[in-house]
Amino acid sequence: MTVLHVVGARPNFMKAAPVYRSLASRGHRQTLVHTGQHYDPLMSDVFFKALEIPDPDVSLNVGSGSHAQQTAAIMSKFEPTVLAHKPDIVLVYGDVNSTVAAALVCSKLGIRVGHVESGLRSFDRTMPEEINRLVTDQLADLLFTPSIDGDENLAREGIEKSKVFLVGNVMIDTLIRFLPKADRIFPTLKAELSLDAFGLITLHRPSNVDDETTFLPMLQVLDELSRDLPLIFPVHPRTSQKWSAQLERCNPNLRTIAPLGYLEFLALQKNASVVITDSGGIQEETTFLGTPCLTLRENTERPITVTLGTNVLIGRDWGLLREQFHKALKGGRKQTARPPLWDGKASERIAEILSR
Ligand code: UD1
Repeated sequence: MTVLHVVGARPNFMKAAPVYRSLASRGHRQTLVHTGQHYDPLMSDVFFKALEIPDPDVSLNVGSGSHAQQTAAIMSKFEPTVLAHKPDIVLVYGDVNSTVAAALVCSKLGIRVGHVESGLRSFDRTMPEEINRLVTDQLADLLFTPSIDGDENLAREGIEKSKVFLVGNVMIDTLIRFLPKADRIFPTLKAELSLDAFGLITLHRPSNVDDETTFLPMLQVLDELSRDLPLIFPVHPRTSQKWSAQLERCNPNLRTIAPLGYLEFLALQKNASVVITDSGGIQEETTFLGTPCLTLRENTERPITVTLGTNVLIGRDWGLLREQFHKALKGGRKQTARPPLWDGKASERIAEILSR
């Protein structure tokens, strides 16, 4: 079987890595296409290196743009690539523009598409990712879900049950594989960043960082909280481009740094007293690691991280953020459990299904 993987943005890399590895061990021919949605070395190259992914066979170098421009650029560059490689199946990951663009191209060419991390829904169509998820799942021939809520969402949308496979969470496969390495680098990282107890922040959702009436009050509260616990803030390019001056004016306990590599960020997530984020993947990683996670969003497409895991949805309720933050500082912990099938074997299940 010939499998073509499409990746493009940072959260794709840790999902594709274990699937690529599992298929390689079964001797399938594979092609890796990087759309270039993310292109800064710190957003892309460092992940290929840390996750031991081979260099892309094809780089489409699309770069940034509006949603329409970026999606269209990926589609027009990907079409000749997929026609030239004639794969038996194309695998797309997650919910980024590269995911939906490749799925659209393949479905019109009659090439089978598998969607890894299928079925997640925030039910918030103002999120570009929600549109990408809905469209990709309608087009995909094989849908691999990370948790049972994904199966339920797909059933509600009329997707045939025979196409859906509950396999577990591939990102957790990567986490389990690389956690020992992350543990080994932590002492050095701790010394380099002069860390004792600390919290961790990430913010990049357009709904949080694009508009000053949202972002500036949020930054003010984070600045206030950092006086009680130093907060490390690796800043996403979308956020740093707009707010570097305001970030520099914060108190020195709110420590902004460049985006981190996979191992470094994993080590910090594991050892942080609390994580404040608007990322999807980080809600899952903190649930697995048992680290309290305060999510600055009104909704989540990963509800299992709230029902079973360490995640608390804060929205923009700054009173609740202060309360939950101080609770975490005092060691207050939710009763939590790891979701079923988040066991490091999701990519093996996908490879097994594809090999049938
Ligand atoms: C994208 C995904 C989002 C994911 C996030 C993870 C979509 C719709 N969004 O959002 O789901 O959570 O990646 O990081 O696919 N930029 C750089 N260097 C880069 C890439 C981007 O400077 O390597 C800057 C550009 O100015 C760009 C902006 O960041 O316009 C946003 O990049 P884009 O890929 O459009 O969306 P993200 O916010 O990264």
